[in-house]
Amino acid sequence: MCGIVGYIGNQRASSVLVEGLKRLEYRGYDSAGVCVYQNGELNICKDSGRVMAMAEQIADDVRFTAGTIGIAHTRWATHGEPNQTNAHPHTDAGGRIALVHNGIIENYATLKQFLEGKGHCFRSQTDTEVLVNLVSEFYNDGSNSLEEAVRPALHEVTGTYGIAVMCLDEPEKIVAARKGSPLIVGVGTDEYIVASDASAIIAHTSNVIYLNDNELVVVTRDGMRTLTLDNVPVTKQVEQIEWSLEEIARGGFDHFMLKEIFEQPEVVGNCLRGRLDLRDCRIQLGGLDGVRRELVKTRKVVISACGTAWHAGLVGEYLFEDLARVPTEVEYASEFRYRNPIIEEGTVFLSISQSGETADTLAALREAREKGALSLGIVNAVGSTIARETDGGVYIHAGPEIGVASTKAFTCQLAVEAMMALMLGRRRFMSQNSMNTYMEALSRVPEQIERTLEQSDRIREVVADYVGYDNWLFLGRGYQYPIALEGALKLKEISYIHAEGLPAAEMKHGPIALIHEGMPVVFIAPRCATYEKIVSNIEEVRARRGRVIAVATEGDERITRYCDHVFYVPDTLAPLQPMLTVVPLQLLAYHAAVARNCNVDKPRNLAKSVTVE
Ligand code: AGP
Repeated sequence: MCGIVGYIGNQRASSVLVEGLKRLEYRGYDSAGVCVYQNGELNICKDSGRVMAMAEQIADDVRFTAGTIGIAHTRWATHGEPNQTNAHPHTDAGGRIALVHNGIIENYATLKQFLEGKGHCFRSQTDTEVLVNLVSEFYNDGSNSLEEAVRPALHEVTGTYGIAVMCLDEPEKIVAARKGSPLIVGVGTDEYIVASDASAIIAHTSNVIYLNDNELVVVTRDGMRTLTLDNVPVTKQVEQIEWSLEEIARGGFDHFMLKEIFEQPEVVGNCLRGRLDLRDCRIQLGGLDGVRRELVKTRKVVISACGTAWHAGLVGEYLFEDLARVPTEVEYASEFRYRNPIIEEGTVFLSISQSGETADTLAALREAREKGALSLGIVNAVGSTIARETDGGVYIHAGPEIGVASTKAFTCQLAVEAMMALMLGRRRFMSQNSMNTYMEALSRVPEQIERTLEQSDRIREVVADYVGYDNWLFLGRGYQYPIALEGALKLKEISYIHAEGLPAAEMKHGPIALIHEGMPVVFIAPRCATYEKIVSNIEEVRARRGRVIAVATEGDERITRYCDHVFYVPDTLAPLQPMLTVVPLQLLAYHAAVARNCNVDKPRNLAKSVTVE
């Protein structure tokens, strides 16, 4: 998720663009760039780092002082680490066309090959540079305008995009288009602002038009026109922005955490995009290509992480052993780094981290590398230290996670682990039929999360009755034991309620002594091989007058007989259930924290990335 802005009007374009980027920085902040047309040139300044750093660079740069048309970008890297070459805007080889892009071009490798065959050269590792060269290919191939080059180029693209494009031959024009990524146009007095969302526009006008998928807009000083990618004119209604800046950044949600919970269908979709090849029944994880040979010889997986990422690792243990039959261990990175661990031949050391900067996880990685392990990473922040120091890995494409309590990164970490385990399992023993069944089920997870989210209001109503209790238990079996731990952590870290997660069968070995009249106990009990066992565990708690909330499979009427409240998730295969069952627990913790007036996005005593030990 990146932020793009385009401006044409009478104001100094670089100021409007920089202001717009600052307001879009919650969408991505690892590099920034601007392109302004002035003195017959497309002047570009771009670099890794925050918008402010780039703004300081151009503040006194005469190339940017007078221009009144330009495009700009703030980045959340997906292809190519954050550095000056990979920053946007990207230009074609001749520097005549400049483009900024928010989204993922899935078939960029194929298009790149085609363009290299046509003599195009590439400087960066990005999918976006491929797109601008494709536009240039059509432009030089006799199209009579920029939009007549952009349209056919976009017909060749699979994936998602929000783009803004400028061209030296038509300097008084911006062409923008969208598919899958948001794009709106602010209609001001003698000026237009194209942007990923209204936060970059609201300071100038509240009149906007919203582009739909497969629509393109051509903006000049004389006006704008919108058309489809098939060149059919589209009449657009100018609408009013009613949200405040804060609300826009939060997408209309009260908190970033709730926004990120509701982003999960989209970001899990992004995480799977271009990796699940259902037609050829194959999983493609480009970041592991370089270690494919060693990977097949894996004899053991050791997963290392902290906090929520450690819980994702626990689910990974079940996935790798169940789907790939590889012995797997999960380590607290903070313990592993000081334990002088034994790393055997054929060990894959898998570090999981949203930020890619967590000190303990990094130190454990360095220790494992020192001892000769093949090191892989599952990371969100592209170009982060852990990503750079591993031999290979997979980015989760969850976009920036602002809320300190990790939510969407967790479900995407589970999606990547499932893909890695399936890929390894298929290479080792899994039949094509099973692989197909799992891949089909995985491809349905985004819409199933969507359906699970529909219970948010009901969860809010139910939790209101429980927020007075200061001690909770979360219980699960098998794949759901790590989800019990994650549910407890979410409640602890944002509502400050003490909660403990446990394997449900452990209760009778001590913790059941805690159960008393009215104590909330949350069971994660979807239909699975141990369903009957967990129903008996529920009855043990009921017998001691505990209050039971359960997460169960849609259609399971029977469980309502044993529980005070039940939240449902759609049915899926047991290894994939954790991506669904965690969602009601995220919402439960969120609504409990709001009901207790806690600072949800910035809970006390916590930092988003723990870079100290
Ligand atoms: C989770 O909500 C917390 N923010 C915390 O436990 C976090 O998961 C942990 O610090 C690991 O962070 P990382 O994924 O960035 O390495």
